[in-house]
Amino acid sequence: LTDGPLRGRRVLVTSGPTHEPIDPVRYIANRSSGAQGTAIARALADLGAHVIFVTGPADVPPPEGVEVIRVETAQQMLDAVQDALPVDAAIFAAAVADWRVKDAASSKMKKDKGGLPRLEFAENPDILAHVAQMTEGRPTLVVGFAAETDDVFANATAKRARKGCDWIVANDVSDGTGIMGGAENDVTLIAGDGAEDWPRMGKTQVAARLAERIAQALG
Ligand code: C5P
Repeated sequence: LTDGPLRGRRVLVTSGPTHEPIDPVRYIANRSSGAQGTAIARALADLGAHVIFVTGPADVPPPEGVEVIRVETAQQMLDAVQDALPVDAAIFAAAVADWRVKDAASSKMKKDKGGLPRLEFAENPDILAHVAQMTEGRPTLVVGFAAETDDVFANATAKRARKGCDWIVANDVSDGTGIMGGAENDVTLIAGDGAEDWPRMGKTQVAARLAERIAQALG
């Protein structure tokens, strides 16, 4: 599809979890399914954008009609994002692991060798903050997500300022909402000039509405 308001636009979407290796057979991960990021990539492509979809190991398959770049770790995701630039808009829907195991073992750790393993952690690069704070070649629109369990609005507003992105899509992923891994989402879109509370709706509908807003913002 090459028609639509985003025709001729390059848009980057990150999605899914990252896997951070402990050794060649073990990793640290999180519960992200990749459903919301996948829906956003599809919605942007439906509006005619050229979508570069950088995805960690997600539960759901990537959409048709986008350029798929598969990664495992946060560091690989950062490299893929940098390779994809420049873009008109960048949407960071991935649940990137905050920490990786420092000096992951290059062969399988053995149970019978010297008691319990002791894992040391290192901080992963913050991909969203990195792109949002670029001084040269920054995308026109940089959108982050904030999955929070408490004080969603206050935390997400602070996160928007800290990361330097244009918009934050905030959602409540506390226990009982059924949002993480579920089909619906309940979001607040926080921009520089105010916030919009969207009604709870399917992730596909959230994606379509966000894609429309992105098309408007890019003009
Ligand atoms: O800081 P926190 O992980 O809550 O921020 C969430 C937002 O930042 C999401 O948009 C996520 O994709 C992005 N992020 C990132 N790289 C990280 C951590 C988060 O791009 N290392």
